Amino acid sequence: MKNELVIVLDFGGQYNQLIARRVRECGVYCEVRSYKTPLSEIKELQPKGIIFTGGPNSVYDPASPHIGKEIFEFGIPILGICYGAQLMAYALGGTVETCKVSEYGKTETFYDKSGAIFGAVSELPDRAVSWMSHTDYVAKVPEGFRITAHTKDCPAAGFENADKKLYAVQFHPEVNHTQHGIIIIDSFVHNICGCKSEWNMKNYAKTAIEQVREKVGNGKVLLALSGGVDSSVACALLSKAVGDQLTCVFVDHGFMRKNEGDEVEAAFKDWNVNFIRVDASERFISRLEGVSDPETKRKTIGEEFIRVFEAEAKKIGKVDFLVQGTIYPDVIESGTGDAAVIKSHHNVGGLPACVDFKEIIEPLRMLFKDEVRNLGTELGLPDYLVWRQPFPGPGLAIRIIGEITREKLDILRDADLIFREEIANAHLEREIGQYFAVLTNNRSVGVMGDGRTYDYTLALRAVTTSDFMTADFARIPYEVLEKASVRIVNEVKNINRICYDITSKPPATIEWE
Ligand code: XMP
Repeated sequence: MKNELVIVLDFGGQYNQLIARRVRECGVYCEVRSYKTPLSEIKELQPKGIIFTGGPNSVYDPASPHIGKEIFEFGIPILGICYGAQLMAYALGGTVETCKVSEYGKTETFYDKSGAIFGAVSELPDRAVSWMSHTDYVAKVPEGFRITAHTKDCPAAGFENADKKLYAVQFHPEVNHTQHGIIIIDSFVHNICGCKSEWNMKNYAKTAIEQVREKVGNGKVLLALSGGVDSSVACALLSKAVGDQLTCVFVDHGFMRKNEGDEVEAAFKDWNVNFIRVDASERFISRLEGVSDPETKRKTIGEEFIRVFEAEAKKIGKVDFLVQGTIYPDVIESGTGDAAVIKSHHNVGGLPACVDFKEIIEPLRMLFKDEVRNLGTELGLPDYLVWRQPFPGPGLAIRIIGEITREKLDILRDADLIFREEIANAHLEREIGQYFAVLTNNRSVGVMGDGRTYDYTLALRAVTTSDFMTADFARIPYEVLEKASVRIVNEVKNINRICYDITSKPPATIEWE
């Protein structure tokens, strides 16, 4: 079955992924494409609708991203958001100018409910708050357009030419702060574009399983399983599709959290897949002896991982397909490509082409993280696997600052487990995106009983985030922090001081290394 498609044309806006996610939340499949995509290619994809994103530029700057005017003649409904709205107005003969008063943040917006897009939303009141972020505005809409919304300082906060199926909003309906924003998007994709709500993980699972079966035939499939959400869901899908032809290799590098290796093994033994656990901890720990530089740690672990994995693949014999757990944000981000390297990610999905196989299968390539989780549930994976917080490929090795020793690994495992237990006791697991302990390389003086101690400082890190690209430190209640702190200092040897990390990302990152 071919999905009905809405295309988000990216003009450099920071919310491109968010718009696509919102459209999918409305039950409609959506892909993000660059504004540079040839118009002929867009036409061939036969989208039911197109959404132009915002962007940081001014349309009258000749270097700003533009698009061929023919797109407005395709007869495909278009919704322009922020820069996208200005671009539409400018291209069709309207006027765009620098705002007399820039708008940023929550802004009272007045809607004309006789317009096609807002009129179809019965829940939308005549006035509501929208989220604005602009320094240019549409001073005059093009001929044939009518204004459908305004604010105190923005005369054309919404405009449309319903005959030509062209719609625009200066505000950001995709951002949660815009009241009824999601229903405005819903109105566009359903009422204007005429999409049905067929995009859901039940349908996806069915189609993906059929596609994998067709591709694999009788071939052998290999999957590097980390126990993280993506590789676990990929495993569940592949095992439903090809059963015994699949072998999962779990390389235990010795930097897993407390009991984690056993838990992963137990879960997949239950799942009835060919599962190989390779205990390579000795090998990894000895390769990292004396290494304290974060990038060297990451690269060493990445390389070593591939060697171990390759050796296992050879033992299994001629493998035809390798499964990678690539997800859609990776695909979108690799499309831009010139960001600075902050950290070399080691991802079990990111295996290079050095294993002897015919083809790569990426069954989650078009899914956002929340969709991957829904798919996992749909496929019958237990909640504790589906709702796992992300865990970096190099594991605890990058949560021990400085040189790694077995003793430090044990300290960190015990402390981290207590922190996780206290977060679970306070029922905060689903609210906090990621939470863990970091063993710093710092020692300080303390007093325990009547004696002096000189022990490690542990840092606790917890963040709220929707995309892991930006994050805020979690406002954990003091009582929960206190419980964790008291327990850790009492129950874990060699820790006498605990700090809570109160930096956001940026300027910090989520992990410490
Ligand atoms: P940072 O520390 O860059 O982390 O803010 C962002 C998210 O990525 C995870 N992370 C990794 N995941 N391999 C992974 O699969 C890695 O090498 C890696 N390094 C960081 C991190 O836990 C957070 O969720």
